[in-house]
Amino acid sequence: MMICSVVGARPNFMKMAPIIHEMRKRGFEQLLVHTGQHYDEKMSQVFFDELNMPAPDIYMGVGADTHARQTAKIMIGFEEFCFEKKPGLVIVAGDVNSTASVALVCSKLQIPVAHVEAGLRSFDRTMPEEINRIVTDHLSDLLFTTEVSGNENLRKEGIPEEKIYFVGNCMIDSLYKYLSRAIDQQPWSNFNLDPRHYALITLHRPSNVDDLKNLDYLIDIVNGVSNTLPLIFPVHPRTRKQLLFCKRPLAERVILCDPLPYLSFLGCMAKASFVLTDSGGIQEETTALGVPCLTMRNNTERPSTVNKGTNILVGNERQEILASVEKILSGKFKKGEKLPLWDGNAAQRVVDIIELKYTEKCL
Ligand code: UD1
Repeated sequence: MMICSVVGARPNFMKMAPIIHEMRKRGFEQLLVHTGQHYDEKMSQVFFDELNMPAPDIYMGVGADTHARQTAKIMIGFEEFCFEKKPGLVIVAGDVNSTASVALVCSKLQIPVAHVEAGLRSFDRTMPEEINRIVTDHLSDLLFTTEVSGNENLRKEGIPEEKIYFVGNCMIDSLYKYLSRAIDQQPWSNFNLDPRHYALITLHRPSNVDDLKNLDYLIDIVNGVSNTLPLIFPVHPRTRKQLLFCKRPLAERVILCDPLPYLSFLGCMAKASFVLTDSGGIQEETTALGVPCLTMRNNTERPSTVNKGTNILVGNERQEILASVEKILSGKFKKGEKLPLWDGNAAQRVVDIIELKYTEKCL
């Protein structure tokens, strides 16, 4: 039986890489499909190189578009692929449009789907990712969860217990594997900065950057934060486009740069004083690293990073953000703890279960 892994956008790559490596180790017959949702060298190829991923067997090149068109293009391309290659199992990860589109195709063709990072819920259906999570989970046959809230959410939604497996976090497998290499590169020195004497910021969520008034307001906050420490700001393409129209100039100590490769970003994150972000994955990576994270959102689908980790939700509240920075700099911020099964072995557990369920078919 041939197993097909699908990736499409930047946050998929570090989740899928350790699974692909593990399956290769065990001699599985596998194919890798890249939908091409993210297509820039800096959003895609550099991650394949650094994570030592094989070149995709099929690159669909769907590119950016409206949600409906992007979803439709992925579905058409992936259905053709399935007709031709007849995969016995398809693995998808996370919550991007590629994830849900592929799950939809598979369910119509009765091809089993394994969802890595299942069960996360922000309970905010204005987020496209929340729709993708719900759709994907309800169409999947194997649901691999990263934290206990995932199991609880799936149970409440009526997903049968025997489909749900708490395996830990594959993205954190990649983090541990590459951390020392990332720190050895000293990527902060490219910005003439010293460890712990800077902060890192990322902003790309449509709710934060698509509305120019809101973005303007956020830039004002970011400028305020930069009074305390210099900020490295790798800019996502969505944000880059919007910044062109923003009236408020960025302060001098906000250092804009292109999206960073995996190792550079990981190294900068590991040695940051704190991280200011609206990303999903970075909330988890900072918790694994023990680095304070201020999340510029009002909700999170990753509650264990707040309850046990180093993350807090600060929304777009200027006072709250500046007070939290103050706490961090005076050493009064919470320290966080390690989360269960975020131990670098999640991909092994994923592949163990796939092997158990599809044993004689895999090899
Ligand atoms: C997507 C995911 C989001 C994830 C994010 C990580 C969905 C619904 N959203 O959002 O969950 O956190 O990826 O980055 O799937 N662009 C480029 N080059 C690229 C990719 C995109 O210039 O390589 C531009 C596009 O032209 C588009 C914008 O960036 O205007 C947004 O890209 P898109 O794929 O629509 O979603 P993201 O905002 O990246």
